Amino acid sequence: MRRMVAETRLHPADLILPAFVREGISTPVPITSMPGVVQHTRDTLRKAAVEALEAGVSGIMLFGVPEESKKDAAGTAGTDPDGILQVAIRDVKAEVGDDLVIMSDLCLDEFTDHGHCGVLDASGRVDNDATLERYAEMAQVQADAGVHAVGPSGMMDGQVGVIRDALDQTGHEDVSVLAYTAKYASAFYGPFREAVGSSLQGDRKTYQQDPANTRESMRELALDLAEGADMVMVKPALPYLDILAKVAEAVDVPVAAYQISGEYAMVEAAAANGWIDRDRAIMETLTGIKRAGADMILTYWATEAARSLR
Ligand code: PBG
Repeated sequence: MRRMVAETRLHPADLILPAFVREGISTPVPITSMPGVVQHTRDTLRKAAVEALEAGVSGIMLFGVPEESKKDAAGTAGTDPDGILQVAIRDVKAEVGDDLVIMSDLCLDEFTDHGHCGVLDASGRVDNDATLERYAEMAQVQADAGVHAVGPSGMMDGQVGVIRDALDQTGHEDVSVLAYTAKYASAFYGPFREAVGSSLQGDRKTYQQDPANTRESMRELALDLAEGADMVMVKPALPYLDILAKVAEAVDVPVAAYQISGEYAMVEAAAANGWIDRDRAIMETLTGIKRAGADMILTYWATEAARSLR
């Protein structure tokens, strides 16, 4: 009876797998703060993409982790056609073709030595407009590598418009922009720093949103849509379900939510201690996110959850 009258149903195709690939390693490196998640080698990433596809997951979001020596102030490795992210996009594309939607994080923090999402000005603050030029270049190299959708996550003002233009001017009209529209300055990104080997100097409060605010998200939403976003995202998910519901109500484009590293770690840690039922907790969080209005959910449990839904 419960099954018959359920208002919300999760489906494997709702799920997108975020995955990390690290340059220069020959075996996967476990991320201790995210038990069960690894930094992939190029080879194991291809396998993970195939497993996700076979489980019914609809997309994969790729994050590149360059060799430490390749990080610099401008995040040069992020725009190198042979940089790890571009290589990974080509690898996954060769493996799964167009059967899985291949997405890429479009941001500089994985590639900068200071760990910020953009380039810095003389005073050490993130320089919005100089960063936009870097994002335009990133969009082009990622699209050249064959990505289906780029995910600008740096929260620079004007990023969606600049990226859309760069894609259109380089013959990549078909590449979609999944805009990180409402991205909050959150403590829950903690484990992600280990995942991408980044040590952030300072914080992201000059470009990510204040957890206390709602209106700001609606403003970001209007701007992203006006600039050409094809899909919009709310991030993190669980502490911002009200924002997700408002965004979903307000738009006529697909809405994504990102269940981030700290949300994952929180459930895994409690489960490891025997404090909660892991499998039920995972499905409950995913159902809650869908119920709040997400069409797509980025989750590190994507493959596992998709398998159990089948
Ligand atoms: C920025 C980016 C971050 C995440 C995705 N893209 C980190 C940040 O903004 O601080 C976080 C993902 C997660 O925590 O799972 N490149």
